[in-house]
Amino acid sequence: MSDASKSGDDLAAVAVAALSEDQARAELARLAALLAQADLDYHQADAPTISDAAYDALKQRNAAIEARFPALKRADSASDRVGAAPLEAFGKVVHAVPMLSLGNIFDGEGLTDFIASIRRYLTWPEGEALVFTAEPKIDGLSLSLRYEDRKLVQAATRGDGAEGEDVTQNARTIADIPNELPKDAPDLIEIRGEVYMSHADFAALNARQQGLIDKGSKSAKLFANPRNAAAGSLRQLDSAITAERPLHFFAYGWGAAPDLPGQTQWDVLQAFRGWGFSVNPRTERCADAAALLAHYHQIEEDRAQLGYDIDGMVYKVDRLDLQARLGFRSRTPRWAVAHKFAAEKAYTVLEAIDIQVGRTGSLTPVARLTPVTVGGVVVSNATLHNEDYIRGIGGDGQPIREGRDLRIGDTVIVQRAGDVIPQVVDVDLARRPETAQPYVFPQTCPQCGSHAVREEGEAVRRCTGGLICPAQAVERLKHFVARGAFDIEGLGAKQVEALYADGWIREPADIFRLKERYGPGQMRKLESREGWGKKSAENLFAAIEDRRAIGLDRVIFGLGIRHVGESTARMLARHYGSWAGFAEAMAAAQDFEGESFAALLDIDGVGRVLAEAVVAFFAEPHNQETVGRLIAQLTVQDVAAPQITASAVTGKTVVFTGKLERLSRAEAKAQAEALGAKVSGSVSAKTDLLVAGADAGSKLKKATELGIEVISEEEWIVLAGAG
Ligand code: IVH
Repeated sequence: MSDASKSGDDLAAVAVAALSEDQARAELARLAALLAQADLDYHQADAPTISDAAYDALKQRNAAIEARFPALKRADSASDRVGAAPLEAFGKVVHAVPMLSLGNIFDGEGLTDFIASIRRYLTWPEGEALVFTAEPKIDGLSLSLRYEDRKLVQAATRGDGAEGEDVTQNARTIADIPNELPKDAPDLIEIRGEVYMSHADFAALNARQQGLIDKGSKSAKLFANPRNAAAGSLRQLDSAITAERPLHFFAYGWGAAPDLPGQTQWDVLQAFRGWGFSVNPRTERCADAAALLAHYHQIEEDRAQLGYDIDGMVYKVDRLDLQARLGFRSRTPRWAVAHKFAAEKAYTVLEAIDIQVGRTGSLTPVARLTPVTVGGVVVSNATLHNEDYIRGIGGDGQPIREGRDLRIGDTVIVQRAGDVIPQVVDVDLARRPETAQPYVFPQTCPQCGSHAVREEGEAVRRCTGGLICPAQAVERLKHFVARGAFDIEGLGAKQVEALYADGWIREPADIFRLKERYGPGQMRKLESREGWGKKSAENLFAAIEDRRAIGLDRVIFGLGIRHVGESTARMLARHYGSWAGFAEAMAAAQDFEGESFAALLDIDGVGRVLAEAVVAFFAEPHNQETVGRLIAQLTVQDVAAPQITASAVTGKTVVFTGKLERLSRAEAKAQAEALGAKVSGSVSAKTDLLVAGADAGSKLKKATELGIEVISEEEWIVLAGAG
């Protein structure tokens, strides 16, 4: 049988790299049909026919073929549907020549020192010219491209400098990166440079992501800045996603390069340009410090108009023979340095301080500012963190603005440094209006009027209104439908807000009554709302039904109890096994002196703060009622007890203490549980066995006093292995 006529099933076994073009076309068609059917089964028939892992494997194969044969990408490609989180890591690449970083200077004095140290090192006389290139320092991520026989064979990220990640397939999708070099290029060369995203592309990408989020997508997210967007786009396991993200590349250096096309940095960059690379057009050759500084200031002035982020200039000794003589310190070259731009600052007026109430009731002050441009971005809001920050005190309790609190009407200094969101860093006391009064932080919640209290040792003040506070209720609902909790596809933050505002969903249970109240045959219908239609309403009802039967861990996490994250929720679910068991134990644990509370505290990993938060949540009558209505809508699935191997410790209570040398705590705990033992965090009369690692202290002492059996880590390993 010829290659091209292999049947579909045979093709499935052919590695992507081995596919001919005809085979690739046939394989893309086969994958498109399989993925479309799987999507249909999953989203519409509500009956997935393949596992998530199998689905992801198909999608990845599809993307890999598309990356090899971009022209064959189908109009109905599954890659255009936003994929799941990456499944597996990238391959590793050991750099032939390490990818180092640069030393920094911040001013003319630093530059004088830099040049003087080079002259000293080379014993280069004062009178003799020393030429540099000055290149903008692109704020992206560095990439090393290896060409063998003039073909791109490997692209690797910097990683830790010695070892990076193999992103070859993704680099092939970047238009600025040639797949092949012209004939005059050498047989082997590694070109290095920076991958970045332009401001315009970044804004368009985030607008697209926002659109997906508004449609209820759980996987789409906004990027904080162009560099993160570039990194996130390059480090995609699905190269079809990278292909859709407009990335650019500036070449500025090289790694392994036995045969360079020039004797100076400048000439090599010109040669790179001749081979089809982009070289930054604002690169200049400068003969002395004055010329370097003049160029630096010019670029600093033009910075906001460049259309991409730069964070300084890089000066490099131009002659390559001198670069070679100068060589490297441990992590930075002697022949190059980064001259960083100062953080961008601007003066503006603090017009008001608003208080935002978060899901957990935290009151966060937000500065409303007279809009001002800082580094090309208009800033009109900035977080003020908490009440201490307004008073001029930092997170560690130390003064950050000694005697300079922030008052409404003050002229303040706003700063943007790199990727950091704008900060109000200081106040200009000379411009303080006479009428400005110290800001009094509210003691009640601006949303519901409940008391707002600040616990001892905490910087944050919190509303005590719980589920009656509208800010918390809507935020709690958003948390409830989020990933890791009920994860209801099609019900994102925006939908929750709109449905909450109209009173259609006021508490979690309402979500599960949505169809009966606003479904087919009702007066008011979800499908008639703005932004909804018949299909999307049906899909949402189906997604909700899909979550009626749900694991105990997701229910516990979804409640949004303070300090209870996903892993804590899983731990509690594993311990209590069923909703009935959990609810009963929480009711009984209201008595802090009683056994149930002691048992809760006894769970390995549960501390007092967490235990009290969980118990307090269930003590609140509002919460009991709301949770009761929710549970009535659900079938909460018990957490299956782990597979137990009968052993000498089955049914016994084991405590681990001290430093374990060979096992991690989590590993030791999992071993014990797999052997049917209960792992406790504290020693009591009920403890059967103490495993004492190095430097064991009070628990060992107590166990000895109580006459409890004590064994070493080594003995435990033998015991667990025998189980
Ligand atoms: S040269 C051995 N040139 O800045 C020196 N780096 O802080 C290698 N960067 O890791 C770097 N623009 O990611 C060089 N024109 C430029 C650059 C540049 C941006 C980045 C690069 C490097 C980092 C060092």
